[in-house]
Amino acid sequence: MPTAIRAQCRAVGSCLPQQVLDNAMLERMVDTSDEWIRTRTGIRERRMVADGEYLSDLAVASCRQCLQRAGLEAEAVDGIIVATSTGDFSMPAVANVVQHRLAATRAWGYDLVNACNGFVSGIATASALIEAGRCQRILLVAGDVMTPYIDFQDRNTCILFGDGCGAVLLEAGPGDGPGVIDWLMGSDGAGADLLKIPCSGSAIRPSPAALDRGDHFLKQEGRQVYNYAIRHMTESCQQLLQRNGLGIGDVDLLIPHQANQRIMTNVAERLQSRPEQLVSNIDRYGNTTAGTIPLAMADALDDGRLVAGSRVLVTAFGAGFSWGSVYLTWGGSST
Ligand code: COA
Repeated sequence: MPTAIRAQCRAVGSCLPQQVLDNAMLERMVDTSDEWIRTRTGIRERRMVADGEYLSDLAVASCRQCLQRAGLEAEAVDGIIVATSTGDFSMPAVANVVQHRLAATRAWGYDLVNACNGFVSGIATASALIEAGRCQRILLVAGDVMTPYIDFQDRNTCILFGDGCGAVLLEAGPGDGPGVIDWLMGSDGAGADLLKIPCSGSAIRPSPAALDRGDHFLKQEGRQVYNYAIRHMTESCQQLLQRNGLGIGDVDLLIPHQANQRIMTNVAERLQSRPEQLVSNIDRYGNTTAGTIPLAMADALDDGRLVAGSRVLVTAFGAGFSWGSVYLTWGGSST
């Protein structure tokens, strides 16, 4: 999309809880095996917050690392968007807490709730604000603390999710420079009941009966979600590439939402990408919901795969259903 201003991705930071929850520990909780989890999902271990450790703690640490890598003080930031479904509280928005703890005195903040598609939704929102000339710099934070919503007696779900967070600094740059070149998103609320946390909003009161039913835990129809995820991530990548006159060979890195290694591999094969294009760290972190893509970006930066000028195709799918893809060129320095 030609614009006078382009939103440049200048830096990324990340934060994971110290506590590791590996497959051997899950074997002691439910009827599963390390072998089943690894072959069906690609996950070996995930991270879990300690008591008293909140999403805001992970978010603030991610932002500090991101700002330090960008060589900026928090006062330079105009706005903070936190893409999460698991803020410290449903009210207030955690972005305000992050703003205060960072001493980002000039910044506004709000949360953006779109489950595993939160990061892509945040890129769409932040880049539009920057392109419109309304903001110079936005910290896009994306992450979730999923483990409080997981039933560790349900083997279908407890193996998949973990806690983690990342932050990307988007900054106004020249229209022909690196940055967010195009994005597209889609929704299909017909899938709303296939992946949800029933008692997490205003619909179901947190009564003793609701807690007894386990309505405060995440529920999903895994196989159906699996099939929709592959279809929508593949198709949105294909549409985005096509409308920008690109082929998969024009992309350096494919960074999909990390929900299941088999989903990622399937999408990569359908796109006919080369194995070295795919960025995957699901073996170490599991599905951190909104956090997976910035965490994968941070890993790709650390291992030298994501460098200034890298052409990146991002794609995500999540509860809603909601999905989307972004094509961007990385604008930041290498560290
Ligand atoms: N350990 C051992 N067996 C398990 C298990 C576990 N942790 N979880 C499920 N099983 C069993 C099932 O009970 C089922 O047994 P049955 O055939 O006797 O009924 C069998 O394994 C196959 O289950 P199925 O659901 O078909 O497996 P699958 O290959 O689809 O893998 C998921 C299950 C959940 C890993 C997979 O469907 C998935 O990843 N779905 C998408 C999840 C997702 O991405 N969610 C977030 C989207 S953002």
